Amino acid sequence: MKMISETLREARKYEEAFGKMIKKEQRPDFHLCARIGWMNDPNGFCFYDGKYHMFYQYYPYATQWGPMHWGHAVSTDLLHWEYLPAALAPDEFYDKDGCFSGSAITLPDGRHLLMYTGVVQERLKNGGVCDVQTQCLAVGDGIDYEKYEKNPVIDERDLPEGSSRIDFRDPKIWREEDGSYRCVIGNRPADGSGQILLFTSPDGFEWKFKNVLIANKNRYGRMWECPDFFPLDGKWVLLTSPQDMLPQGFEYHNGDGTLCLIGELDKQTDTFTHEHDQAIDYGIDFYAPQTILTQDGRRVMIGWMQNWDTCNIKGYEAPWFGQMSVPRELSIRNGRLYQAPVRELEQMRCNKVACENVTFSGVKRLDGVSGRRVDLELSIRPAQGEMYRKFAVRFAQDDTYQTSLSFHPSDSIMKLDRKFSGSRRAIIHQRRSEVNSVNGELKIRLILDRYSVEVFVNDGEQTMSAVLYTQQEADGISFLADGTVCMDVVKYDLLGEYERA
Ligand code: FRU
Repeated sequence: MKMISETLREARKYEEAFGKMIKKEQRPDFHLCARIGWMNDPNGFCFYDGKYHMFYQYYPYATQWGPMHWGHAVSTDLLHWEYLPAALAPDEFYDKDGCFSGSAITLPDGRHLLMYTGVVQERLKNGGVCDVQTQCLAVGDGIDYEKYEKNPVIDERDLPEGSSRIDFRDPKIWREEDGSYRCVIGNRPADGSGQILLFTSPDGFEWKFKNVLIANKNRYGRMWECPDFFPLDGKWVLLTSPQDMLPQGFEYHNGDGTLCLIGELDKQTDTFTHEHDQAIDYGIDFYAPQTILTQDGRRVMIGWMQNWDTCNIKGYEAPWFGQMSVPRELSIRNGRLYQAPVRELEQMRCNKVACENVTFSGVKRLDGVSGRRVDLELSIRPAQGEMYRKFAVRFAQDDTYQTSLSFHPSDSIMKLDRKFSGSRRAIIHQRRSEVNSVNGELKIRLILDRYSVEVFVNDGEQTMSAVLYTQQEADGISFLADGTVCMDVVKYDLLGEYERA
């Protein structure tokens, strides 16, 4: 039995006692949420000892951000998670103000290595405080982790000139074919924007700065958080979450956003040049995603289905806050990032309802098409060659509430709107995105869980995610056409084995 600090012991006791007081129905069904209290970024997403492990930024004692711990859960299908005791607590001199985001890898001897950012607050001369950030390690067996005695393993002395020691976080580690290790870390250079630093290590413990993989140069927001860097379909992909974005058309919105860069890695210089940029998710709630390579070779991404700018969506009285997105399989098609819900989700499909060539104008409801845990595929087109003006699908609907996804073929704009979902806060409730549609044809897949909707447009060419706290009784689904729309509908309930008839 490893030595466990008082701080971690307290957290484990607390989550054990209070986590089980939350009823199953008060949580999402197949999206991981905080065991109790607060959750943000996915951390240490990996496959270890026969199971998927997900750690997360965690403050068990309140539904607000606080000194960061690492929560922990495991799964065999990426959809149903079992909580394990919290893995890390801020209990050492080098991480006493927080164990920030990081990643995990299996060492050749079978031990599990976590790499995370340790935070220590320092008093400034003007009386304020700043966070000094270093990179730290913990080694464990999938349940208990011991912090490395030589922590921190990367600190300000390893940084290139002009780099901030205050914005220096979120290491993502991987192993190279030759057995050596690399990690990318988000950082703020002297120009005040963001850059991704590349570090190398022969054994995962001794780290050296290699070079700047790519610099933001104030193009996409400022500081770049939570980088992930991996090969995919013959290209290299950098995922990162920029702070302080300015909007660019319908591609990027104000505030904290997500960025996917696709391009080439120059192996001589270890620099990355991108040929394509896009948002990762075009909805309201998505940030800080992390990926793994599954054993069968799929690159699967999970993001925090929330955004710092939209956290204040109170009015939902549950003792947890923060949930992860559905896991998404990534691919590159036509130079773009595509996302599809993991195929494991298909095992949850039941009660199929399929209707073809439903031609309608005005409001339409279909027998058997309703529910709050649903996989809904829609394929829409104009009827009799005449262009419609608007199509919408409404869900989580009753006489009072609804959330809608609408599409106008005239400008190809899709809008996700949760204004009438029951929120009593003045945060963003609507987001528009430009989508690809020729002649008013469009494919949409909606994944609904108790407290969220995720939209996959045109087989995953774009996604839009949002959390919803509408009461569960609002389970109606209806369609609306201004003009005449012809659609094919396939609907499944997403139920666990234990619930099926
Ligand atoms: C991103 C982030 C990370 C940091 C963590 C702190 O959401 O700001 O950069 O490590 O959250 O909880």
